[in-house]
Amino acid sequence: ATDTGTDLEHVLLSEEQLAERIRELAAELDRDYAGQDVLLVGVLKGAVMVMADLSRAMSIPLSMDFMAVSSYGSGTKSSGVVRILKDLDADISGRHVLIVEDIIDSGLTLSWLIANLSSRGPASVRVCALLRKPEAAKVVVDVAYVGFDIPNEFVVGYGLDYSDRYRNLKCVGTLAPHVYS
Ligand code: PRP
Ligand code: MN
Ligand code: MG
Repeated sequence: ATDTGTDLEHVLLSEEQLAERIRELAAELDRDYAGQDVLLVGVLKGAVMVMADLSRAMSIPLSMDFMAVSSYGSGTKSSGVVRILKDLDADISGRHVLIVEDIIDSGLTLSWLIANLSSRGPASVRVCALLRKPEAAKVVVDVAYVGFDIPNEFVVGYGLDYSDRYRNLKCVGTLAPHVYS
């Protein structure tokens, strides 16, 4: 199919559900970081949508920066060995850092990222992840803010990709089998 919408098997989270949960998370973050000058760190590329919507739903002053990382190793999925493709623009020492992610799958990417950013002397490092797959966890990641816990299925949309496509879907859903074949 050429219409990415028809490639979905079912919608797991609608545009409205995502928007409502992001408003709730933003309100929580506004309260928790009040008066603290937080730096949101978006992890490219998956986090672009949640970063854009979450930051606009927040009311407190904030800064934004982005990192791009890549897992490499023998497998296709996270190996836990992470390479920085694009680092932060600025020094984060003394800053309150909030890592913004689309999804925690094995947890390997985030666990590496938390350790990496923590070593730079920030005032604090916390994680806000829109989605988390508890059944897929290989390492335990301390996540302060989670949007939704979801089943261990391959999902796309709202930043999440399959072969770099479907990121622009407004909802999160599973792909129809014909897409893979
Ligand atoms: C995906 C996702 C998370 C990470 C989660 O990124 O956006 O960043 O994998 O997996 P993990 O918990 O098993 O480490 P991906 O590497 O696909 O890059 P992308 O964000 O550019 O799609
Ligand atoms: Mn990612
Ligand atoms: Mg991806």
